[in-house]
Amino acid sequence: MIVAIDGPSGAGKSTVAKAVAKKMGFSCLDTGAMYRAVAWKALQDGVPLDDDAALGRVARENDIEFGHVAGDPVPARVFIGGEEVTQAIRTAEIDRAVSPTSAAPSVREALVEQQRRIGSAGNYVVEGRDIGTCVFPNAEVKVFLTASDEERAHRRVRQNVDRGVGSIDYDEVLADLRRRDEADSSRAASPLRAAEDAVRIDSTAHYIEEVIDQICALAAAAYVDETAETARAMTGEA
Ligand code: DC
Repeated sequence: MIVAIDGPSGAGKSTVAKAVAKKMGFSCLDTGAMYRAVAWKALQDGVPLDDDAALGRVARENDIEFGHVAGDPVPARVFIGGEEVTQAIRTAEIDRAVSPTSAAPSVREALVEQQRRIGSAGNYVVEGRDIGTCVFPNAEVKVFLTASDEERAHRRVRQNVDRGVGSIDYDEVLADLRRRDEADSSRAASPLRAAEDAVRIDSTAHYIEEVIDQICALAAAAYVDETAETARAMTGEA
């Protein structure tokens, strides 16, 4: 079963996705980390960020892996081509490089294929920009999470302080969020938009715990439906 959580940068997707996964006992996939890892590797290898074919090769030829702490379904570490990039993909430099990287159709093709393979292996909370519209259009639960620009910038600054990486200048973070929103929404390949059947949640005026509970309730209801459907199929009931 897939719980898709899409939305713009800083809407709280990562925090919410991890908490929902833990509460539901699901695994969690951060697709933004995959685009960030490819951007990091492209910079590392001197690949021009406007060269779609070369970026696609970077995405296809370097395995992306997630490292788990024993017993935790939420991965704590990210690797590309065997190198750990957990912290390195959160810098302001990668914030800038990830927009052209994620707009490259060859990169999207390679990563979407990997995301489908990973997600179809079990119950997953998958967060990104195009999960409900493109990667898993049949996801059992689809959420489009938003918050005001200012609230998102405040949250991103707090997250960067906690992680000890990335800009902690509010104005710089706000400008970068707006720039990335514009780039993510206006690109030709899988632009950021809500799926028609997504539940829209604006987290500006809600505690993050309320948002988590709301999504868990949606996931639990979908899980019950799915289990009942499987039981009906097994017993041959109409
Ligand atoms: O969620 P994030 O901020 O870590 O994502 C980094 C970038 O990757 C973001 O600017 C848009 C892009 N992205 C995407 O195009 N599609 C996804 N499914 C996830 C992220």
